[in-house]
Order: sequence, then C-alpha cells, then structure tokens
Amino acid sequence: MSDLHPKRLLGKVVVVTGAARGQGAAEAEALTREGARVIATDVEAADGCRRLDVTSDKDWAALAAELKEAYGQVHGLVNNAGITWRARLGDVRPEDLDRVHAVNVTGPLLGIQHLAPLMPPGSAIVNIGSSAALTAHYPVAYTTSKWALRGLSKTAALELGPRGIRVNTVHPGYIDTEMTASAAPAFREANIRETPLGRTGIVDEITPLVVFLLSDDSSFITGTEIPVDGGLTAHGGVKSISDALLTEGGR
Ligand SMILES: NC(=O)c1ccc[n+]([C@@H]2O[C@H](COP(=O)([O-])OP(=O)(O)OC[C@H]3O[C@@H](n4cnc5c(N)ncnc54)[C@H](O)[C@@H]3O)[C@@H](O)[C@H]2O)c1
Repeated sequence: MSDLHPKRLLGKVVVVTGAARGQGAAEAEALTREGARVIATDVEAADGCRRLDVTSDKDWAALAAELKEAYGQVHGLVNNAGITWRARLGDVRPEDLDRVHAVNVTGPLLGIQHLAPLMPPGSAIVNIGSSAALTAHYPVAYTTSKWALRGLSKTAALELGPRGIRVNTVHPGYIDTEMTASAAPAFREANIRETPLGRTGIVDEITPLVVFLLSDDSSFITGTEIPVDGGLTAHGGVKSISDALLTEGGR
C-alpha cells in the first residue's frame, strides 16, 4: 500500500469477539487490512479463529494471559459477539433473558475487565450495540441486553478515560447476516420500509466505522454512540406518517 494510504492500525494488537462469521469476520478482515495483529475469537470453531466463549471468565483470563505473554499489550477490543432471542413480552422467560444478557452484556464486561489492564493510553474499545438499543424493539431479551450494553459503554468510557482508553458504541440497523436471515421475511421487508435509505445494510458498511473508532483518527472521541442504520432510528417512527401523506398528495 502506498504512503498516500498508510495503514491506520499498524502495530496494534486487536481482539474481536464473535469473529467466525457475519460482522465479526468482516471486522477482523478489515482490521487486518489496516495493519492490526488481529486475534479473531468465537465460541464456534472456524478457520483463523481462536476459541473464546465471551460468557466465560476462565476463557477471558486464559486469553489475557496469552496476549500478555505474546505481545505485552493489547490496543483494541471489539465486543461484537451477540445472540438474539425473538420471544415477545408475554412469552419471554427469565432464563432467556439471562442467556441473552450473558452473551450481550456480561461478555463485553468480562472482555473489558480482562483486557483493559493490558491496554496502554491510546487504546480503544468498540462495543457493537444495535438499533434495538435506541428503540422499543420487539424481542425483549435482545432489546434489554443492548440497552444495558449502552450503559456499560458509557460507564466504561467514564472510568477508562483517565487512562487514555476510549470506549464507543456502534449501533447497526438491519445488516444482512445469519442473525437476520433467521428472522421471518416480514422482518426484513418491514425494516426496509422503515429505513429512509430504503434498503438493508451489508457488513462492510459497519467495518469502516469500527476501523475509525479503533484508530488514532478518533483520538478525542469517547463515550459516543453511532447508528449505522440507513436512518432507521433517526426518524423516531414518523417515516410511516410521512410516507402515508406522500401517497395522498404530499401534505
Ligand atoms: N445483523 C444485524 O442486523 C445486526 C443488527 C444490530 C446489531 N447486530 C449485532 O452485531 C453483532 C454481530 O452480529 P451478526 O449479525 O454478525 O450475527 P451472527 O449471528 O452472524 O454472528 C454472531 C457471532 O457471535 C458468535 N457468538 C455467539 N455467542 C458467542 C459466545 N458466547 N462467545 C463468543 N462468540 C459467540 C457466533 O458464533 C457468531 O459467529 C451482534 O452483537 C449483533 O447483536 C446485528
């Protein structure tokens, strides 16, 4: 690559969770292209992925010890692993809530607890939230977990700021991955209707922001939350009102 396009993460050691497929795999690839030494991890076996169950304190402790031994420092963490559970208010069980929160909230917490001690000033953490964290999304366990992750991100930004460690959250809208493919077709269609850009997103529309937030280009940005959702959460539910009026002549 020419000097006009310097690699933005050269020399940085970055851990990505849930990197066996979907957004995590794309993030790991993009970070590697920018020169990072990426440790791609997942609970599922996959080529190039080290096994790590984000809910396991033991797994995180082992990873942290390995990274300390191998590199001495870690400069980035992408808390990307996540699961959904689409039970609605009347049906969701406490154990569903616990299971989803274990991956989506406890996982990122453990990652931060184990890796932040290895992070020098200038390091960065990116948590992958969801448009569900900004709205009254219908799957209760998923929505509450992603709202909780926002709280964790804010608290971590506050606590780690004095050490020069930044923490930001990316909120994807509907991105075509196995997670969204497992929903009913009506879910995809309704998302497209509610999205001002009129389409779904792809994984490589998330990765540039993740690269930016891990790089020194965002050195004064922390505690923020950025939706990457084609405008879904920006209109606060009024798109259908606007669209209905447009079909009746515009006013
Ligand atoms: N796809 C979307 O539309 C969308 C929208 C908003 C937010 N998100 C979020 O983006 C992130 C990535 O989602 P995706 O769409 O790529 O989903 P995905 O289901 O394709 O990939 C998720 C990955 O996380 C891994 N994982 C699950 N449990 C784990 C655990 N306990 N430990 C380690 N890894 C685990 C899975 O094995 C899988 O590889 C998730 O946090 C998800 O909630 C996705």
